[in-house]
Amino acid sequence: MKVSVIGLGHVGLVTAGALARWGHEVTGYDVDASKLTTLLAGEMPFYEPGLGELVSEGHAAGRLRYTRDIGEALAGAEVAFVCVGTPPLPGGGPDLSYVEAVGRAVAEHATGDLVLVEKSTVPASTGSRLSLTMAREQQSNGNVHQIDVVSNPEFLKEGTAVDDTLHPDRIVYGTASDRARDALREIYRVVVEQDDCPVVETDVASAELIKHASNAFLATRISFMNAVAHVCERVGADVEEIARGVGLDARIGPAFLRAGIGYGGSCFPKDVDAFAHLARQVGYQFELLDAVREINEGQRQLVLDKLRGELWHLEGKVIAVLGAAFKPGTDDLREAPAMYIARELLAAGATVRIYDPVALDGVAAELPEVELYVDPLEACRDAHAAVVATEWAEIREISADDFMKALAYPIVVDGRNAFDPDEFIAAGIRYHSVGRRSVTLI
Ligand code: NAD
Ligand code: UGA
Repeated sequence: MKVSVIGLGHVGLVTAGALARWGHEVTGYDVDASKLTTLLAGEMPFYEPGLGELVSEGHAAGRLRYTRDIGEALAGAEVAFVCVGTPPLPGGGPDLSYVEAVGRAVAEHATGDLVLVEKSTVPASTGSRLSLTMAREQQSNGNVHQIDVVSNPEFLKEGTAVDDTLHPDRIVYGTASDRARDALREIYRVVVEQDDCPVVETDVASAELIKHASNAFLATRISFMNAVAHVCERVGADVEEIARGVGLDARIGPAFLRAGIGYGGSCFPKDVDAFAHLARQVGYQFELLDAVREINEGQRQLVLDKLRGELWHLEGKVIAVLGAAFKPGTDDLREAPAMYIARELLAAGATVRIYDPVALDGVAAELPEVELYVDPLEACRDAHAAVVATEWAEIREISADDFMKALAYPIVVDGRNAFDPDEFIAAGIRYHSVGRRSVTLI
């Protein structure tokens, strides 16, 4: 099919590459001119394993191209995917102005009947609003083509986005017409046949809500385990053992039970808030989600409390923060716990060093006062403490002995439970992790 992808970020670019792999003719458009310049030069605008190869394959096959002109992107398109950002607003709801802008552009530039697919994460009822906005716009500009709105949420994870998209657990789409449903069947025909992938065909509002419910539920599992970790620390139990024992129950499963510094990234924090905000708007206080957020925020603070417990005053201390990205496998710093901790340390007068294998350019742009390191042990050299904020393999490889030799004070606050507490404590390290055996603070 002839498809356009509007917004070429973490979701849009992977979607464009996957659609080209499945045999569709894809034209990508982004409002960000510098991103298009990067893409047109054959480079990747962000770090995502395997994405460069997927995109190059689409170019080589002649099925993936880009344009700087939204009209050209939509010319002849049968299906258009909306993959623009929906960032958080101060009140907790998402900023839907980018989605609305795309809707108006589509209502102006559609050259034939079109299926408009919301892939961006949006609250339930956005599809209806989008349809109304486009109908009004068409009335005023005289465009007569039929535009059907579909919700087709995306479930990819950064760091494994290519594999998640090419081999999805499930495909969900919500439609309001047979024409739109048939278009989505054709879009995903290849992957459904190849992978025997389950498909949920539903209505638009339910598909929108499936996305918020999925992210909120995963975030709830993490906060639940972080709450359990607090109890573990007080009774001398080990949260990793709890996760193993609980996760072996087939009804629960082992994924997303890792306690630690809390979830970050551009989605869980935003989507938990957006879902609670939507519920409030329609008259329901989703207090469980308020607790999920509060527990999560407390985990970042816990790392700082443990550092203060060891170092007393942070002013003048040198702290090595190991890992900056919100998780391994990405250079994304949005809502990264490491960046929150770095800001708090700087505000307390500490010198902050950050190591990350791929995210240092972003760190330099956001926090120019931080010292950057390409080697984690160099970052630790003569520092007063190390904080593990992202569990990169390069960090997990550091031995207790390496830390002992490098650090001025042998203090390690491990926000990701990356090391063995018995081994580190036996080596003489003042080792703190989350919900496991730690040294006792004064
Ligand atoms: P992103 O910031 O990486 O990319 C968004 C892109 O949209 C940017 O390149 C931006 O320039 C572009 N854009 C903004 N307004 C535009 C317009 N009017 N026309 C064309 N392009 C425009 O964001 P992302 O991480 O790809 O997320 C996009 C959406 O997908 C969000 O709603 C997010 O919640 C959702 N989502 C993200 C992930 C993820 O892992 N990042 C996973 C699933 C769903
Ligand atoms: C998450 C979801 O997993 C995707 O399904 C979804 O599509 C995406 O959000 C989205 O809507 O954008 P992502 O944010 O890329 O994906 O990364 P995750 O692997 O889910 O990790 C999110 C955060 O939770 C990270 O900070 C990670 O360190 C943390 N986490 C994850 C834990 O603290 N414990 C866990 O057990 C798992």
